Amino acid sequence: MKTHFDINQYIREGAINGRIYTEPDVFTLEMNKIFEKTWVYVAHESEVANQGDYKTTVIGQHPVIVSRGADDGEYYVMFNRCRHRAASVCQDEKGNANFFRCQYHGWTYTNSGDLVGAPFQDGYGEEFDRCKMGLIRVPRIASYRGFIFASLSEDGPSLEEHLGLARPYLDMIADQGIELTAGAQKYAYHANWKFQVENTIDPYHLSFVHKTFFDIQDKKKGVKTNFARMHKQEKVSDLGNGHSLYELADDLGIGALPFNLIIFPNLSFVGSQVRVIKPVSVDYTEVALYPMMLKDATLEENAARLRKHEGFYGPASFGTPDDLEVAFDRVREGLRSGGEEWLIISRGMNREEVNENGVLSGNSSDEVSVRAIYKKWRELVTI
Ligand code: FES
Ligand SMILES: [Fe+2]
Repeated sequence: MKTHFDINQYIREGAINGRIYTEPDVFTLEMNKIFEKTWVYVAHESEVANQGDYKTTVIGQHPVIVSRGADDGEYYVMFNRCRHRAASVCQDEKGNANFFRCQYHGWTYTNSGDLVGAPFQDGYGEEFDRCKMGLIRVPRIASYRGFIFASLSEDGPSLEEHLGLARPYLDMIADQGIELTAGAQKYAYHANWKFQVENTIDPYHLSFVHKTFFDIQDKKKGVKTNFARMHKQEKVSDLGNGHSLYELADDLGIGALPFNLIIFPNLSFVGSQVRVIKPVSVDYTEVALYPMMLKDATLEENAARLRKHEGFYGPASFGTPDDLEVAFDRVREGLRSGGEEWLIISRGMNREEVNENGVLSGNSSDEVSVRAIYKKWRELVTI
């Protein structure tokens, strides 16, 4: 890492430098200053609903296990690293088990991380204290309305403080009685993780990238979507801490929530899905979409939600493949071409409104959400 990081070379009023998407040093900085410091979403409680349930995921670059204690029903988040010589102890995406046994030399841990056996223990002296050799738990874990977050930092704002003004929207989602029991749809792309965060709230692109979708919708409804009017009726708001909100005026026919919500840095809610973003390297990103099923709905109702989700977000849908091509691949290609280093994110800066809570908002074609992301990004990477 450079000894001196000059933030002004990367970000300035209404613009960001393309190097924030391509420089490995910036990625390293983001992992250290964002993903290892702030709250990162790891699981919804419904994914580890029963005692003994577990799932594996990552916090930034760190593989972790999220489990529900087989004995005590508590939630645990532990580094997926054997205390002997560091092999990961669990490779399955999810499951139910009382123990994790490292395949390398057989050290065995309970599913809450306590070491219960190291084979041929007479090879270790008296000082070997099994109680101190459990899987290491991450410094902080907290849950908000069923959404489990973890932080690799011992201190910092509480989860409630971090979520701040986004909490009422998480409440609305939780009040629907959701559960993530339909599995996950996954994709990956060869570009930076921030492309996906930004694109999650970017109504400006809808009438271009997703034109075919809207043409078909219009045909069905017999009315032409007036995008200029739609953008004026809709609002995008900066909720603080990097989080932002897009409130839809009409049902666009692509989901069940009346809003899109970004919880910075790695979680968002779109349509009827929980979207989780996993940065792998500066130019490779994995994304997982978990359709939200409703506990109290019939099988048919939940199936209908899934079909709707697949229609816009599935692998052969009207939405995701076009976003992957235009919003990720073409931006990556354009960035390589040079000529200009800066990208413009100033749209709507001249007409932002501020409410009594200090929430900035603009119409839905304005880049309020991108600016919200980079405001927090800037704050975190320069601390
Ligand atoms: S690395 Fe796990 S038992 Fe040796
Ligand atoms: Fe899109």
